[in-house]
Amino acid sequence: MEVIIQPDRHGAAQLVARVIAREIRAKPNLVLGLATGKTMEAVYRVLVKMHQQEALDFSGCRTFNLDEYVGLAPYDPHSYRFYMDERLFKQVNLDLRHTHLPDGRAADLQAECARYEQAIADAGGIDLQLLGLGKAGHIGFNEPLSALRSRTRVKALTPTTVDQNAAFFGGPEKMPRRAITMGVGTILESRRCLLLAAGVNKAPIVAKAVEGPITSMISATALQLHPWCTVVVDEPAASLLQEADYYRWVFANEPEWEPFR
Ligand code: GLP
Repeated sequence: MEVIIQPDRHGAAQLVARVIAREIRAKPNLVLGLATGKTMEAVYRVLVKMHQQEALDFSGCRTFNLDEYVGLAPYDPHSYRFYMDERLFKQVNLDLRHTHLPDGRAADLQAECARYEQAIADAGGIDLQLLGLGKAGHIGFNEPLSALRSRTRVKALTPTTVDQNAAFFGGPEKMPRRAITMGVGTILESRRCLLLAAGVNKAPIVAKAVEGPITSMISATALQLHPWCTVVVDEPAASLLQEADYYRWVFANEPEWEPFR
């Protein structure tokens, strides 16, 4: 795992977008795993700008999102399909047929989960998986006790997650209680993981995810098992990391990070 600390949330989002852009330029038919949440909005804004101003070309990419709420239609403004359409897909030259999210309205949810896994496999697996970090340490919607080898499935959301996301729905009673999410095992199979977390609220969970023991209680800790996982945080989110000076040194001195300094 490598940890990159940027001065503020804007710098952190910018760096994540630059890593994504570099991978797309190196492999135009990149299979990109995508995430939602407030933190990611800034990343998508930068990517849209890069598309407009630097001709960043998404036309060969295929995308797979981590998760979707059960029961929401794609045109529901609270669905992750709607979020992605508005913030990224319709604003760049992605072929919408190559953008995938689980269908939270499928009649047979279990079959839908299996279909999603198969679609990822048929695309050749995910090259780069973007990840946010829930307050309790989930990646995707892999709530506490998600098996470290879990695959795409339906998960019931914890009260913490409902609390965290209820504001978007105008109250907890309006929020779905279940979601389809890629499993921890699905995420760990992607070739590279790129996690972004920002803000002082995330500092305790960032410290546990990066430097704490691996536990299914905090699915983000499973990323410690991944051979190539980059965690990008801003200074406030990094404030409880014990080895922050070491991470700063690596970013400032290692040649692989030179293009990003
Ligand atoms: C939701 C998503 C997660 C994401 C999290 C972060 O729960 N399902 O994949 O990591 O939001 O949210 P935020 O960026 O709003 O803190």
